[in-house]
Amino acid sequence: MPRAARPRRLLMCRPTHFEVSYAINPWMDPAKPVDTALAVAQWERLYELYAGLGHRVELIDPLPGLPDMVYAANGATVVGGRVLGARFRDAERAAEGPAYLEWFRSRGFTVHDPVHVNEGEGDLLLAGRYLLAGRGFRSTPAGHAEAGEFLRRPVIGLDLVDPRFYHLDTALAVLDTDEVMYYPGAFSAAGRAVLRRLYPDAVLVTEEDAEAFGLNVMSDGLHVVLPEAATGVAARLRERGFRPIGTDLSELLKGGGSVKCCTLEIREEE
Ligand code: ARG
Repeated sequence: MPRAARPRRLLMCRPTHFEVSYAINPWMDPAKPVDTALAVAQWERLYELYAGLGHRVELIDPLPGLPDMVYAANGATVVGGRVLGARFRDAERAAEGPAYLEWFRSRGFTVHDPVHVNEGEGDLLLAGRYLLAGRGFRSTPAGHAEAGEFLRRPVIGLDLVDPRFYHLDTALAVLDTDEVMYYPGAFSAAGRAVLRRLYPDAVLVTEEDAEAFGLNVMSDGLHVVLPEAATGVAARLRERGFRPIGTDLSELLKGGGSVKCCTLEIREEE
């Protein structure tokens, strides 16, 4: 089957207040300088890329004091027009959950304010009929159960074991309905066995490419926007008939995020 792009509805948050003032993952170092103006310029380039691919990109207002709000993927999980809010592990990000939930509530979406920790699409990735769910660092099994029930999808729990890949979307990417790519070293032996069984043909990504955030990508089924440093991933995707589009988000990498982290997908259809 030839590959085909499906335009998406996306939500993003401009990094107006982006900085690294605390450290909640191994990429963050408050002693390292961050160029906020450059972060904004790189983010705007990503926005333009999406617009150029025909996606409908909406924006949520960035709030002062919430530097990680730019990572919109963590703000919620939207499936079939139902919006599961986020509940963050860390106090520094707690206020982002209600801010994102309000954005959806005020636009008429059916929303659920979660009781248990889940960090949105950072750990919950819809792949065909399944909700692939990362755990071990942020989102919890109780949060997964809550997600499966509210979003009405079977949940496949996957244990993350390498702190560099603390969110599922840093370790695995959904390329199309039943096609994924992942870095095996980020998962427990049991998680790797589950992934092999579900996706025997998955693209396996090297540690080097995973470290360049090569799994933190946005695919529309044909075009895959990814960090330009992940050249190995781009080559593998091309072999499989995808069209990789590299972009530079070096400043946002200092917070531990890249393309996918900056992008929340709003799925309206069941
Ligand atoms: N500094 C943020 C954190 O550690 C980065 C979040 C990245 N987002 C993502 N979807 N992986 O929570």
